[in-house]
Amino acid sequence: MTTTALITGANKGIGYETARQLAARGTTVLVGARNPELGQAAADKLIVGGAAARFVQLDVTDEVSITRAAARIREEFGKLDILINNAAITGGLEGDGKASSTTLATLRNVYETNVFGVVAVTNAMLPLLREAEAARIVNVSSEVGSISLALDPDGPFWGMGAISYPSSKTALNMITAQYAKEFWDTPIKVNAANPGYTATDLNGHTGFRTPEQGAEPIVHLATLPTDGPTGRLWGYVWGAGNSEYGALA
Ligand SMILES: NC(=O)c1ccc[n+]([C@@H]2O[C@H](COP(=O)([O-])OP(=O)(O)OC[C@H]3O[C@@H](n4cnc5c(N)ncnc54)[C@H](OP(=O)(O)O)[C@@H]3O)[C@@H](O)[C@H]2O)c1
Repeated sequence: MTTTALITGANKGIGYETARQLAARGTTVLVGARNPELGQAAADKLIVGGAAARFVQLDVTDEVSITRAAARIREEFGKLDILINNAAITGGLEGDGKASSTTLATLRNVYETNVFGVVAVTNAMLPLLREAEAARIVNVSSEVGSISLALDPDGPFWGMGAISYPSSKTALNMITAQYAKEFWDTPIKVNAANPGYTATDLNGHTGFRTPEQGAEPIVHLATLPTDGPTGRLWGYVWGAGNSEYGALA
């Protein structure tokens, strides 16, 4: 039977690479993208590489496009095995980058995509995920959402003061935990992945990890066995070697 995975924001970066790696494992990947040209081009590239891929127009801030995407997946596949909530924005640097320089407009904008978008897409896809034998939901989070790391004066994020992006990932971690509890006694697993600092458009390609490496923890959580964990934030551990992964708090 076909295993299907929907990846939001899969036209580039870590989302695209996640789609590529899942496709290489025999999964049919639904390339979620808000821009039809970019989304179709990404799906075509994956197909040329041997993948079973389809472009699905999906803007995570647009209820109409989310509902249409869910209807299309139901029509074509009748179920969804894997949902990767990957799409996100940073909101850019504001003022001096301190908490007090954050504008409400940016905060709202970032939350629309990184927080509300995840809940909207997840709830719309849940009826399809329930139809799968053992669905996996992976929310792509970040260690910058960790409150303990943010408050560690010796840690890598002590100098980071902006509110919007880091707090959106903190919210995402709690959202992950609450969905995990809802499905605790079911085969559905809900986890959050930390790709680590990865060279993509999100950070002007300043990251020290490759998109291939960034996608690894996401693919790992998306393909967990039945005895795998749920409700965890897991991924690349800052400061560790290139291949060291673990739980984050
Ligand atoms: N890069 C890192 O160092 C890093 C570290 C930790 C976590 N992450 C997380 O990894 C995930 C992927 O980031 P990335 O680095 O690959 O960033 P990226 O290259 O900027 O890709 C972001 C993707 O999200 C899409 N997107 C943005 N808003 C959207 C919306 N409203 N609806 C649908 N798609 C939307 C973008 O589409 P467009 O092309 O149309 O803009 C793009 O496809 C994010 O959740 C990010 O927070 C990244």
